[in-house]
Amino acid sequence: MDAEARARDLLTRQRPGYSLDQAFYVDPDLFALDLERIHYRDWLYAIPACAVPKPGSYVTHRVGAYGLMIVRGQDGQIRAFHNTCRHRGSIICKGASGHVPKLVCPYHQWTYELDGRLLWARDMGGDFDPAAHGLKPIHCRDLAGLVYICLADQAPDFDTFADLATPYLAPHDLGNAKIAHQSTIIENGNWKLVWENNRECYHCGGNHPALCRTFPDDPAVTGIEEGDMPAGLAAHFDRCEAAGLPSRFHLSMDGRYRLSRAPLKVGAKSYTMSGDIAVRRWLGRVPFDDAGTLMKFHYPTTWNHFLPDHSITFRVTPIDATHTEVQTTWLVNKDAVEGVDYDLKTLTEVWIETNDEDRRVVEDNQIGINSPAYEPGPYSVLQESGVSQFVDWYCDTLGTRLSPLQVAAE
Ligand code: FES
Ligand SMILES: [Fe+2]
Repeated sequence: MDAEARARDLLTRQRPGYSLDQAFYVDPDLFALDLERIHYRDWLYAIPACAVPKPGSYVTHRVGAYGLMIVRGQDGQIRAFHNTCRHRGSIICKGASGHVPKLVCPYHQWTYELDGRLLWARDMGGDFDPAAHGLKPIHCRDLAGLVYICLADQAPDFDTFADLATPYLAPHDLGNAKIAHQSTIIENGNWKLVWENNRECYHCGGNHPALCRTFPDDPAVTGIEEGDMPAGLAAHFDRCEAAGLPSRFHLSMDGRYRLSRAPLKVGAKSYTMSGDIAVRRWLGRVPFDDAGTLMKFHYPTTWNHFLPDHSITFRVTPIDATHTEVQTTWLVNKDAVEGVDYDLKTLTEVWIETNDEDRRVVEDNQIGINSPAYEPGPYSVLQESGVSQFVDWYCDTLGTRLSPLQVAAE
């Protein structure tokens, strides 16, 4: 049975409210299907715009088989290109990031403008048409300081998400951010396990002593139940919205993205061990220090926290069936000075610890699932509705992108 037929069969037998069949977490062919039908088709969060601060700044990234580079042009616009030379295909930018006046292939020095046009190629003859050999572009959007890309030829709609998210993000002024710190870890687990773990806080009390100082693990506050909101949460939304901070819970119709400004624990203002603000010079225009965290997720690649003083982006990149890269970026006001306005350890220690704790539980989860004894288990209705929501989104998305069943003619 090929991967599509197996996926179709397994999705048909998927029990609502239960974890997925083992194959979805371990099988290389189903992993390839995830890439092809989801990651190669959808909008993916890539980098904060401030990672490419000046014309000529670039960052490289890899999504499955595709190497790509994200470059800021002379006109200030951020563009993405396949990192594959139009001569004989060499990689062009080799480092993780850098700054270049032009994009020069290291093999035979074909030279491209920062907007992808081929400027110079030596001894290619009179018939050679440089205009036909520009870098292959990738769809790229700067959403209020967050750069998204899409590898598909025809990108799906981005505007609906952008129109909703822009006013939520605007008060955080990510265009005036700089990267205070970035961590990149590899988790020995399938990308869906990374997401499932992210979408519940059932595990928080037993695993995240640092995060639990400030983050409420009450699913009524951070979960997805829009209807039965506690009165305190409604009052928090009202107060923030009255101050010009879009805050209300919003889950998209297709379940792909959610925005909600959740309060932190009483007295907590930021993700620090003390609960105090981490950065004296704030990033953004949030008018009070107890606005909590604007939480945003956008499947399949990112969840984020936007706080009064700083912001944190997380990027999830599948590597193979049982390995996933998680990159965390701490953003602060570009004028904030380390050692004066913030202490790096104070700013980063809660999420560095939390990420490592999450890595461990994801890896333990993967090891247990690898056993032939694994069978899908039930999610807690009270605590894991977010996990169910993710799994439902995954099954719906993959299911609708499988080829229609071919019925043999009589
Ligand atoms: S492969 Fe790039 S210049 Fe030859
Ligand atoms: Fe966690």
